[in-house]
Amino acid sequence: MTLKDTALAVRENAYAPYSRFKVGAALRAASGAIYGGCNVENVAYPEGTCAEAGAIAAMVAAGETRLTEVYVVASSATPVPPCGGCRQKLAEFGSPETPVTLATVDGTEMKTTIAALLPGAFGADHMEGV
Ligand code: THU
Repeated sequence: MTLKDTALAVRENAYAPYSRFKVGAALRAASGAIYGGCNVENVAYPEGTCAEAGAIAAMVAAGETRLTEVYVVASSATPVPPCGGCRQKLAEFGSPETPVTLATVDGTEMKTTIAALLPGAFGADHMEGV
């Protein structure tokens, strides 16, 4: 399975009864393995989780902590960018130049990077010397 196929397939399992906006994410980890995640909403709205967070959790649960490529897909008219929190989560496990593809289910793709999504990111180096 490709990153795109994984993201499209896992998106089908999204639990989004409140927004009705299904999102699928797939990550390639350093080993080459692919991990997928979907958004999981909750009636207590702030408790919902994003597709990217689910994919990161699957990767970490499998014992991996570095990602090399990201693909996110939703049914919007234009590729929907990750929320601010997910940009920080992706930055934790990727590098600034890690490629991120944002896509629609119709096949429109926008290619970017973690650094472009989160310029001036807060990182561990900012805590040095504390
Ligand atoms: N959502 C994601 O899962 N990832 C994104 O990149 C954008 C937003 C979800 C969260 C919520 O379940 C729904 O989309 C509407 O915000």
